[in-house]
Formats: sequence, structure tokens, C-alpha cells
Amino acid sequence: MRTLATVNHKGGSCKTTTAVNLAAALAETGRATLVVDLDPQASASRWLGIADGGRALLDALVQGRGLDRAIRSTAVPGLEVAAASPWMVTAEQHLAAAPQSDLRLQAALRASTLRWDYVIVDCPPALGQLTANALAMADELLVPVEAHFMALEGLAQLELAVASARKRLNPKLRIGSIVGCRVDSRTRHGPEVVEALRARFGDLVRQTVIRENVRLAECPSFKEPITRYDPRSTGAADYRALAREVIEQEHSDGYAA
Ligand SMILES: Nc1ncnc2c1ncn2[C@@H]1O[C@H](COP(=O)(O)OP(=O)(O)OP(=O)(O)O)[C@@H](O)[C@H]1O
Ligand SMILES: [Mg+2]
Repeated sequence: MRTLATVNHKGGSCKTTTAVNLAAALAETGRATLVVDLDPQASASRWLGIADGGRALLDALVQGRGLDRAIRSTAVPGLEVAAASPWMVTAEQHLAAAPQSDLRLQAALRASTLRWDYVIVDCPPALGQLTANALAMADELLVPVEAHFMALEGLAQLELAVASARKRLNPKLRIGSIVGCRVDSRTRHGPEVVEALRARFGDLVRQTVIRENVRLAECPSFKEPITRYDPRSTGAADYRALAREVIEQEHSDGYAA
């Protein structure tokens, strides 16, 4: 089982779009995949068709129950979601007062019936308690970066948070992938940002970039990932290519099968 978290504290940096569509593309290859929606906005849950996830995920984190009660099946074969809801708004507050507050997600996952090849955690746009739980639990981070110069500025802060989490909570944690998103090849700007990322982060930057594609922006309203909403779109092609690259990493040293 490989655990990834889509993390970037900058709001609107394509975390949820990447978590949902990468997960759907992985499921399409026959890999059982779970999306854990750690964001109180519950965008990933709603996108995957769960209108109200209730309080099961909050209870799993705060009361130390397993994730099983929070897990729902989706219309995509092989894809499940640990669903969030507005109840999660209170999670930061509850966790702040709790012992071992950063290790709750890890404990909840371990107490569940593990049946997945991939677990992808969609983080909220903040480096608070919920994201700390993802950093403590994940093997690796997948950092989507919107291809815009302003988007590079927060990455130093994210690297610091990762270094601190590695030291305090999770020695195996690493940034596994940085993915340029919303790249508009009709302008010079988007590809230049991806080049700037490659200059700074080298091989951590995936070869696949996610192009700007209006179909990706449309599909949450239709409660379908891009692979089903418009399987022939550039968005579907890009997330399938990203899934292939992520799977390919399994053959590198240090990755669990
Ligand atoms: N490749 C793309 N082409 C066009 N629009 C995109 C693309 N990727 C993401 N978007 C749009 O960008 C916006 C932000 O994306 P998304 O919600 O995935 O970001 P996020 O990081 O999860 O946001 P938040 O920080 O609020 O959780 C959304 O409106 C989404 O539809
Ligand atoms: Mg999001």
C-alpha cells in the first residue's frame, strides 16, 4: 500500500483536482484506491458523489475510531472515499486539545480494513493540524503547483514544514512528486514556470504536466472524475499519464510495491 498526500497550503493550487483524477486514473488501471478527504470544504467527497459525509471521519480522528465507517464507495470501480463534511470544520479545534493530535489519521487508517493499493489524502489549504496528520501518515507528498509565478513563493515554507514533520513525526516522509498544473502552452508563462520548478527541484518534478482544460473545471458539477466525464479530453490524458508516471516510480528503489 502506497500512501500519498496532495499538499500545498496555497489555496486553489489544484490539490483536489489532482487527488480525485489521479485516484480515478489509478483505479482505472485496476489498483484499489482510497481518497481520504481531509478538507472541511469536502470538495473531493462531493466531486465523488457523496453529498453529506456525516461525522464519521471526524469521529475517526477525534475519538480514535477506524476509518471504516467513513468510507463510501463511488461510481468508479475500485475507487472509495473516506468522506468529509462540514463537521470537519471543528476538527482543527478538537485536535488542538487532544494528545498525539498529529497521529490520529495514521492510527485511524491502521485500525481500518486495509484493502487498497493506493491511499491519496486530499489536504486543506493550510499547514494546520489536519495537514500535519497527513504529513505524519503519508509515505510521500504530491505537490501540485499552479503554473503561475506567484505559486512558487510558498514552496520554501512547505519544504520547511516537510523537514519539520520528517524530524518530529515521520522519518520516511518525502516529497515524491511536484506536478505543474493548469499549464497553458499557448503562453510562454506556464511552461516557463515548469522550467523554473525543474531548475529548482530537478527530478522531483514529474515529466507530465496537467494542461489547462476547461473540462477539468466542469466535471465536479457532474460528480464524475475526468476519466469518466470526458475520457478523451486532454485532462483525462494528462491524469492518466501522471498515473503511469506514479506507478512507474514503484520500480525505483525505496518504493513499497
Ligand atoms: N488543469 C486545469 N484546467 C482548468 N482548471 C483547473 C485545472 N486544474 C484545476 N482547475 C480549477 O482550478 C481551481 C482550483 O482547483 P482545486 O479545487 O483542485 O484546487 P485546491 O488546491 O484543491 O483548492 P483548495 O486550496 O481550495 O482546496 C478549481 O476551480 C478547478 O476547477
Ligand atoms: Mg481542495
